[in-house]
Amino acid sequence: GAFTEKQEALVSGSFEAFKQNIPHLSILFYTSILEKAPAAKGLFSFLKDSDGVPHDNPKLKAHAEKVFELTRDSAAQLRAKGEVVLPDAISKHLGSVHAEKGVTDPQFVVVKEALLKTIKEAVGDKWSEELSAAWGIAYDELAAAIKKAMS
Ligand code: HEM
Repeated sequence: GAFTEKQEALVSGSFEAFKQNIPHLSILFYTSILEKAPAAKGLFSFLKDSDGVPHDNPKLKAHAEKVFELTRDSAAQLRAKGEVVLPDAISKHLGSVHAEKGVTDPQFVVVKEALLKTIKEAVGDKWSEELSAAWGIAYDELAAAIKKAMS
């Protein structure tokens, strides 16, 4: 079915909650990724040489913010036109970065689970299945666009 205005509002509202607390939430996000996919550590320039997940690393915070922001943008696109279309330059760039790193389908699932867990922490008692499902749909569509650009 179509992505609704309500779903978009749930995603954009909780993105704002995420933005309020990026230092804490970005660490939770990467900790959760590495718990399920320890091998992913070596892929990230800002993780590979550190013991655990570094606190106060600007690159780590910027990257986490980008992933959540692009997912929020995807929710807006899904509501407005029913699909996620990345601008050409961004599509090429994200396709080549992830292809070069050899990112796999199971890793995309791990990142999705980490994102949903992080949003749950961000919104506290405002969390609902509907909220989580809306993020999940937006992420899946974005991931599909990146995977297409990788191939
Ligand atoms: C880099 C977004 C999924 C691993 C990036 C960059 C963005 C991004 C914006 C920065 C590109 C640049 O250098 O300018 C996303 C989005 C994803 C996603 C929106 C899902 C929808 C994944 C997954 C993995 C991954 C599943 C693997 C676990 C990486 C790595 C880099 C990167 C290793 C390079 C980071 C560095 O060392 O600086 N991603 N990504 N990404 N991504 Fe993703």
